[in-house]
Amino acid sequence: MRKFMTMTAIAALMVGAVGGLARAADVKEVQMLHWWTSGGEAAALQVLKGDLSKDGYSWKDVPVAGGGGDAAMTALKAMVAAGNYPTASQMLGYTVLDYAQAGVMGDLTETAKKEGWDKAVPAALQKFSVYDGKWVAVPVNVHSVNWLWINKAVMDKIGGTQPKTFDDLIALLDKAKAAGVTPLALGGQSWQEATMFDSIVASTGGPDFYKKAFNDLDEASLKSDTMKKSFDNLAKMITYVDPNYSGRDWNLATAMVIKGDALVQVMGDWAKGEFVAAKKTPNNDFLCYRFPGTEGSVIYNSDMFGMFNVPDNQKAAQIALATATLSKSFQSAFNVVKGSVPARTDVPDTDFDACGKKGIADLKAANDSGKLFGSFAQGYGAAPAIANAYKDVVTKFVHGQIKTSDQAVTELVKAIDDAR
Ligand code: GAL
Repeated sequence: MRKFMTMTAIAALMVGAVGGLARAADVKEVQMLHWWTSGGEAAALQVLKGDLSKDGYSWKDVPVAGGGGDAAMTALKAMVAAGNYPTASQMLGYTVLDYAQAGVMGDLTETAKKEGWDKAVPAALQKFSVYDGKWVAVPVNVHSVNWLWINKAVMDKIGGTQPKTFDDLIALLDKAKAAGVTPLALGGQSWQEATMFDSIVASTGGPDFYKKAFNDLDEASLKSDTMKKSFDNLAKMITYVDPNYSGRDWNLATAMVIKGDALVQVMGDWAKGEFVAAKKTPNNDFLCYRFPGTEGSVIYNSDMFGMFNVPDNQKAAQIALATATLSKSFQSAFNVVKGSVPARTDVPDTDFDACGKKGIADLKAANDSGKLFGSFAQGYGAAPAIANAYKDVVTKFVHGQIKTSDQAVTELVKAIDDAR
């Protein structure tokens, strides 16, 4: 008996030692490329860093500033070309599919099965996180772009009410102008202008038109009078920005609204992350309305963590990151700070503020009624090359290189065709 116990003890020790060696070889660090550098974004990322550190993983940050991620995606391309994959990278929809097609993504299907992701993550997101039957990315959140962010005190001062139509919105902007406040806070960068244009198109043409033009790339819709009218409406909106808007970062535009220097910003709900970081609350300090004419529709994007095919000794860290990201508690804690809503359907809205609760309810309703559409500007309408062609045409129109709506429509059709 005694001898048996001793043998067992020795065996246990040996297993421990071998296990210890294997663990020592594992990299206990997560290297993450992302473009979350604003105050609200950094605060949200802190939630993830905290969760991972509780699990024993350290964080190697690879931040590439630039809202919308254009600069980050250029940096990622260079890293991947050099065979230097991060554990994961922030990515938007079609970019995930591009890398998956290139064969550089890992496979988290086993973890997905164990964790039941296929039941918890909405099908619209799985279209981008699962490639060829394999989980290659995990969604962190669902953002949507068709929002107005309004300073409440300014709204009260000018006696404004919620705009229900595009014309109401123009009338509201006129009121702000008459009161000497900058009506529209915008940063003149292509991705910001195109993100606003997504909403204008959905408002001008209605949800079905948006889908046909910006998700199906239907040529007749792209060159229709409705698209021309959308460019006219964009031109109208641009008359309400301040003279210094060119090149301004999106979060500085949000800060103008937070401070009351401007009435409204049309932006994805990452803008709410800035209000939250500034300790502002909905209905007291700011108002969140759907862009007029788009109520009932949600034009979404989702930040995905694309999971690269990393060496074996980094796989445990990657699984830890993926598991933490899709845990229910993280999905609530992170998205409360980020301004987005959970990428799982089973997370209670208890901890979310009024705008977050509305975002969660809107997403469910839009999904149920077939009014959930991918944002063209935000990588969920078409492949990156096509989305870039779109952003390029919009910005040339806004900055006067394309002079008329007629010409804009012609250039849009051509640019999309060339990029296909
Ligand atoms: C979006 C991204 C958001 C937010 C925003 C501004 O593309 O989905 O999470 O970071 O850019 O940087």
